[in-house]
Amino acid sequence: MPFVSIEQIAGHAGEEITVRGWLYNLRESGKLLFPQFRDGTGVVQGVVSLKESPEAFQALAGLTQESSVEVTGRVRADSRAPGGHELQVTGVAVVQKIPESDPYPIQLKEHGVDFLLEKRHLWIRTPRQAAILRVRDQSIFAAREFMHQQGYALTDSPIFTPSACEGTTNLFEVAYMDDQKAYLTQSGQLYLEATAAALGKVYCFGPAFRAERSKTRRHLTEFWMLEPEAAFAHMDDMMALAEGLISYMISSVVEHCPGPLATLGRDVERLNAVRPPFPRIPYDEAIEILHRSGNQTPWGEDFGGDEETILSSQYDRPVIVHRYPASIKAFYMEPDPERPDLALGFDILAPEGYGEIVGGGERISSLELLVQRLREQNLPEEAFSWYLDLRRYGSVPHAGFGLGIERTIAWITGVEHIREVIPFPRTIYRISP
Ligand code: 4AD
Ligand code: MG
Repeated sequence: MPFVSIEQIAGHAGEEITVRGWLYNLRESGKLLFPQFRDGTGVVQGVVSLKESPEAFQALAGLTQESSVEVTGRVRADSRAPGGHELQVTGVAVVQKIPESDPYPIQLKEHGVDFLLEKRHLWIRTPRQAAILRVRDQSIFAAREFMHQQGYALTDSPIFTPSACEGTTNLFEVAYMDDQKAYLTQSGQLYLEATAAALGKVYCFGPAFRAERSKTRRHLTEFWMLEPEAAFAHMDDMMALAEGLISYMISSVVEHCPGPLATLGRDVERLNAVRPPFPRIPYDEAIEILHRSGNQTPWGEDFGGDEETILSSQYDRPVIVHRYPASIKAFYMEPDPERPDLALGFDILAPEGYGEIVGGGERISSLELLVQRLREQNLPEEAFSWYLDLRRYGSVPHAGFGLGIERTIAWITGVEHIREVIPFPRTIYRISP
């Protein structure tokens, strides 16, 4: 008897198959049972008749939610069944029955989000959470595929680092060996600048850590970032790469995850609108748009969630904001030669209020200017001496960006809060389970 995953069941109409999974729900109606089974790829409804399959009926009657089972039955096309097919059950082998004295904690009713986060190790089994993780898998797979197709080599950056990349206010300090201090990485960028000079076009994909005090729906303390970096590249090259990457991720999810997107109730038309080119607006113009919309953010200030939402709501696809004031951007940003008070940096803001999903730009290639910036920002030159070497030995214009995976996937799935798109979220108040 072949084992079939539920997502493949449509291809087996009329056949007898076996599904391995868990009892998701059970409706009992006299001499008929209507169990629903899930196996991580989908949910299928079964029907069991006492008269035709008495043993299967006895095994399932009263079986507890989330008990594990192997179920054999014939697949029947039925347009009324969720998923279009149902299983006429002929045999059930119970792998583990959950005792009634210790029932599965998450019932098929509304639970508070704190309770669900406490039970995150179980919550991920529910079809909606599994659908989100399925989209995450496809998005990441597509992103890596795209980078590889574009000729970018994966060169992962270290997690333990001796210095800060994105400011010193949100660093996680770690007690390293023998009284040494280390920090958890905020971004792999500085190391990518080294590997870009070695391989030309590179990227890393890994976790980043920021001790964010912000309790917003967009912040995690541990999140994943995909960061490309290229030698002999400028800001415009990176904008084009980022819009290609994002569009590719989305079209891949739309193509390969119709089931999960349907489970999530995602409006696929809005995703289909996401095609290059994305609108590009300078920071100066963004400020004017804000003022016209009644938001009085003065020139020179960074944007928060409110500003990002106003700006992104003007478009049906992500918008690229570029040339921010240098004073609000990181120490490594190349100044605009025509207006040195601006940095050649850009952010990409997702539509539908999801905010900044990408930050990047061109890096300073002059040794003198970089040393000056380190001093201005009181960063320890000693810890950056290897980084300065990259400007001493064959410095070239180079640029890159970081795409926040969870923010991107929250937008793709249409999920309200970023904590649902990572298997085990870490936030200001939560590091368990
Ligand atoms: O804009 P950020 O800080 O840029 C960098 O770290 C650069 N060094 C990247 C580079 O050029 N290689 O972060 C990049 C992205 C943000 O746009 C956002 O999507 C995500 O990382 N991000 C977060 N996601 C979740 N929780 C947080 N606390 C995040 N902080 C940043
Ligand atoms: Mg940023």
